Amino acid sequence: MVHFWTRKGSFRFLKSLYKENGNMALNDHFLWGSATASYQCEGAWDLDEKAESNWDRYLHVNGLENGDVASDFYHHYEEDIRMLAEGGQNAFRFSLSWPRIISDINGTVNRKGLDFYHRVIDTCLRYNVEPFVTLYHWDLPQYLEDEGGWLNRKTCDAYLHFAEVCFKEFSGKVKYWTTFNEPRWTIFNGYLIGNYCPGHHNAQETTVGAYHIMLAHAMAVNLFREKQIEGKIGIVHSYTPVDGVDDRPETLKAMRYADNYCNNWVLDVAAKGEIPEDLLDALSEKGIDLSFMKEEDLQQIRKARVDFLGLNYYSRALIKPYTEGETTLIINNKGKAAKGTSKTILKGWFEQIKDPNSEYTEWDTEIYPKGLYDGLLRAQERYGLPMYITENGVGMYEDVSGYVEDDYRISFMNDHINAIMNAVDDGADVRGYFAWSTFDLYSWKNGCEKRYGLVAIDFNDPKLERRPKKSYQWYKKVADSNGACIVRKSY
Ligand code: NOJ
Repeated sequence: MVHFWTRKGSFRFLKSLYKENGNMALNDHFLWGSATASYQCEGAWDLDEKAESNWDRYLHVNGLENGDVASDFYHHYEEDIRMLAEGGQNAFRFSLSWPRIISDINGTVNRKGLDFYHRVIDTCLRYNVEPFVTLYHWDLPQYLEDEGGWLNRKTCDAYLHFAEVCFKEFSGKVKYWTTFNEPRWTIFNGYLIGNYCPGHHNAQETTVGAYHIMLAHAMAVNLFREKQIEGKIGIVHSYTPVDGVDDRPETLKAMRYADNYCNNWVLDVAAKGEIPEDLLDALSEKGIDLSFMKEEDLQQIRKARVDFLGLNYYSRALIKPYTEGETTLIINNKGKAAKGTSKTILKGWFEQIKDPNSEYTEWDTEIYPKGLYDGLLRAQERYGLPMYITENGVGMYEDVSGYVEDDYRISFMNDHINAIMNAVDDGADVRGYFAWSTFDLYSWKNGCEKRYGLVAIDFNDPKLERRPKKSYQWYKKVADSNGACIVRKSY
């Protein structure tokens, strides 16, 4: 079949043949892209009047590996977007750094910050690449963190101002907006697990932070509608489809707790304007005080509906009923050195277990493409909205001194894109796929040695030269053929 890859005409022939039998390829409007986030790639942490972010402060104060330079996208964006386009991709997901755009607590706009993103967006458009913009990918201005961050209701108002500035400034150029990247990951890691900034362990704070982030989301969606901003708006969720070890009633109950914990408080709110009632009951039973939920804010939440769901998929959760022990939430941010140490127990609710038949990465992430298929069909049935896979990829240790032959990444991506295509065959409305990540970048507490990129960057090289990995070339064939070259498997 190799000769098919070299000629676009042959693809068309192959596609037309397949159409008679089923979905061999995805449609011509499908977005094939890759994704990044401001703090993880831009560097230039204090350049051009950018304000300090919560991550700048937290990592500097604790003397941890940071994103001061990262991939230096701030100076390499032109080359990076060109390479992305030359790699057959027609969409680029990136985030806007709030502290780069809004300088202080009074909401002063930093023209230099806006100009940088104009340059990025204009470069995308010049290469016929669709900019797919995230407003918030975890870098909060430190001046807001100083006032309590997401625990303070005023952060929602500040976010609304930031969103309004961005909507106005980039409207007409950007058609795809998302309000937040992974509310669960940033709030749970920051306020419950404590491995991300601000590093707290407090269930009451976690609930308040989660509520405020979803309120801010709703306020931005409502503003988007009121101002009749051109384009579509969604949210990006760290989607963790929930499976059970069996179908006993106690397992189904544990699965519901897990689904509420992992998914529903984000997706139900974004898609239906509803906070799951049984989640609120379960929180009250745990002694959480919910009196901070005010009627006028709940009205905002009820009114806001997204146009689409952005789903980041890395793995599912396999659940059994809670047996014993305190709530334990351990995330492996150390890779090899801590392999097998991850643990999730929510006292009285559920326990997450490992599947002995599955393969796990050095960071304890299960490789389970079927979870994506199952999850897409479940989300389709529950919400009936268009979906984009806004992140999917595998983090590995890699020697980037020569050409990176990342066959494991190719196989991972093949199997996940196959899962999407199977789900589309079975009725899921999936409209795009973004590989995480466009190039190697800084992976938060996992540092730079956990690599996800389609393009290699040696962080010890002062020039930070970009070199395509084998997966970059392979992904070009996938995008050029709209998925026709994916090795298909059914479950
Ligand atoms: C999801 C997050 O959005 C991103 O910031 C992170 O680096 C990747 N997952 C990989 O863990």
